[in-house]
Amino acid sequence: MTEFADAPIDQASAASLLSNGLRLGLVDTSDSAQFETWLRADSRGFHGPEASAETIAHHVSGLADRRTTGVWDDSTLDPAMPVATVSSWTVDMTVPGRRTIEAWAISSVTVSPTHRRKGIARALLEGELRTAHRRGTPMATLTVSESTIYGRFGFAPAAFATDLEIDATRVTWTGPIPDGRVNFVTRAQFRTEVAAMHDRVRLDSPGQIPAWDLRWDQFAGLVDDDTTKGADLRAVRYDDVDGQPRGLALYRVTENHGDFAGHTLTLLHLSHETDDAYHALWRFVLEMDLVRTIKARHRSVDEPVVWNVSDRRAVSQTTWDHLWLRILDVPAALEARSYAREARCVLRVQDELGFAAGTYLLEVDATGFAQVTSGFDADDSSAVSLPAVSLPVTSLSALYLGGVSASTLAAAGLLAGTAESISILDSVFHSTRAPWLSIWF
Ligand SMILES: CC(C)(COP(=O)(O)OP(=O)(O)OC[C@H]1O[C@@H](n2cnc3c(N)ncnc32)[C@H](O)[C@@H]1OP(=O)(O)O)[C@@H](O)C(=O)NCCC(=O)NCCS
Repeated sequence: MTEFADAPIDQASAASLLSNGLRLGLVDTSDSAQFETWLRADSRGFHGPEASAETIAHHVSGLADRRTTGVWDDSTLDPAMPVATVSSWTVDMTVPGRRTIEAWAISSVTVSPTHRRKGIARALLEGELRTAHRRGTPMATLTVSESTIYGRFGFAPAAFATDLEIDATRVTWTGPIPDGRVNFVTRAQFRTEVAAMHDRVRLDSPGQIPAWDLRWDQFAGLVDDDTTKGADLRAVRYDDVDGQPRGLALYRVTENHGDFAGHTLTLLHLSHETDDAYHALWRFVLEMDLVRTIKARHRSVDEPVVWNVSDRRAVSQTTWDHLWLRILDVPAALEARSYAREARCVLRVQDELGFAAGTYLLEVDATGFAQVTSGFDADDSSAVSLPAVSLPVTSLSALYLGGVSASTLAAAGLLAGTAESISILDSVFHSTRAPWLSIWF
């Protein structure tokens, strides 16, 4: 298997772009001038600010290990500046059963507003999928700016996130009160400890991926252009009775000038490796003086805190699609996760781009692990009595982490099968932990 960064550009995409006078190529990220120009194009594509030299330097060193692709139009006023960008790298994504699957993470998808709707993003995305598939990576993944773009390429939302808004004047903490202590730590300390904490807990939730140093620097407000934003961040750590750090939280309090008792606390991060840490950190947040509103962004859809407050109607929840998946190799993907029960069923998968199309026999043993046979002959007489469903690759990708049930997809017309087959799939694909990804990429 090639290192992901060495994978060559996709020739089909290069040819289709060339026929429109555009050049597809990889950026040499060790050439800081070339990489800096690409980074500026990426930022402009997302309407970001003109970054300072320090911020660019931080990004040049922090993102150099990614496979970095650009599209150039030599007829523009600044031919060195790409008119489109994309980057990719491989991640070990958590799947049900505390296991991981290698996934092709895609980010920085931008096309200059001067070149939009000419098929450039399609060439880039299809090229990324073919490159990942050629390399043997069974899954592609991304987080999205708009949920309207990626379904056409076979992606579907597979892990959701919830924003909580809590009227702090109506709630008291009713959960357990742990014996350890909550201590303030500096942002720099938070930054030092949060990466290791994330790595200790990421197998707990299907959908989590490892983060990278620059991401944590940005979280802690330590990257140059973000430093002023970071000045109002506060970090706390829960230490258990033996003094062992078990959880971290990062928050900001925004002042209400008209009413000093009406501030807003925004919880930006909370990670924990024990229930005690979770309880202590949430209690700390909920009981903060001078705060009327608590906003907690990007939490799990199954957040236990709603069971730990005196008035659950004081907590409003907005759920949104966050992690999108695209299965490229059905047997490898399905064999990577474990399942909630023993089963044998047939999956007939449609895929317009071809990667995942076929008929597969999924056989889950009593320990929850699966064997998948592809090219399965669904007309085989021994298969007639097996439960079977028919579904597009988007539905299989949505089902994969257990974030939506087969019944729901069937009710939406996105999966077909007998009631019995659908109910079997519901219980087989179920995940005891709701899938959740706590970062953007
Ligand atoms: C989104 C973006 C990358 C699309 O680039 P593009 O080159 O204009 O896209 P294409 O011309 O290749 O379009 C491919 C298909 O996607 C559709 N599409 C493109 N952008 C879309 C959007 N924002 N919403 C819905 N559909 C979109 C096109 O209609 C086309 O559909 P079809 O081929 O099925 O008929 C570009 O508009 C952009 O840079 N946006 C700002 C940054 C951003 O949000 N990037 C995505 C990050 S996750």
